[in-house]
Amino acid sequence: MKKIFTESKTFYGFQDKEVEDETLVDLYEMVKNNATSFNCQPLRIIFIKSINAKKRLNPYMLENNKKKTFDAPVTAILAMDLSFYEDLPKNFSSMDVSFLFKGNPEFTHLTAFRNSSLQGGYFIKAAHCLGLGTGPMSGFDNEGVDREFFANTDWKTNFICNIGYGDETQTKPRERRYSFDEIAKIL
Ligand SMILES: Cc1cc2nc3c(=O)[nH]c(=O)nc-3n(C[C@H](O)[C@H](O)[C@H](O)COP(=O)(O)O)c2cc1C
Repeated sequence: MKKIFTESKTFYGFQDKEVEDETLVDLYEMVKNNATSFNCQPLRIIFIKSINAKKRLNPYMLENNKKKTFDAPVTAILAMDLSFYEDLPKNFSSMDVSFLFKGNPEFTHLTAFRNSSLQGGYFIKAAHCLGLGTGPMSGFDNEGVDREFFANTDWKTNFICNIGYGDETQTKPRERRYSFDEIAKIL
């Protein structure tokens, strides 16, 4: 289990092997049971598998991300729903805290971004648990993707992640990581 953290790597290419829809459902089952503040769960996901959907996404990817994204078995758009607080009475039933967010777009955005990013991290590690490789990307036109996929909604793209069974020849050597002493203090 520890290996999914210590031997983690980004994949820039994948084997020619389908990722079944049930695997994507399993993946979300693993993501959904992890912590978010007030159990707010702002993450929303579009899984791009069809050629038609790939063609819609491709114009908005940065040049160096276009081919690997087009060729990936699945590309997930990980978005956040800025209306997440409307469901808080259902999702955090012990106390209605939705009033904290109504009319407070800055706190709403901060909470959605923080928690959808956390859920995005859970997503990447859940994929690794399932034997999948991942290629997360922030190199794309956020506003373009939002217009194309989320027009007339409160969903905003956070990041995009290619998924598939990793091609071991399509990774890069591990770059330097900080040691504990460089980044942590025990007070
Ligand atoms: C949020 C995020 C955005 C990234 N954006 C891109 C990207 O746009 N294009 C790309 O080729 N790699 C992208 N990467 C991959 C990183 O460059 C890579 O994970 C990092 O260099 C560490 O490599 P490793 O995971 O193989 O150790 C991104 C990674 C993350 C987590």
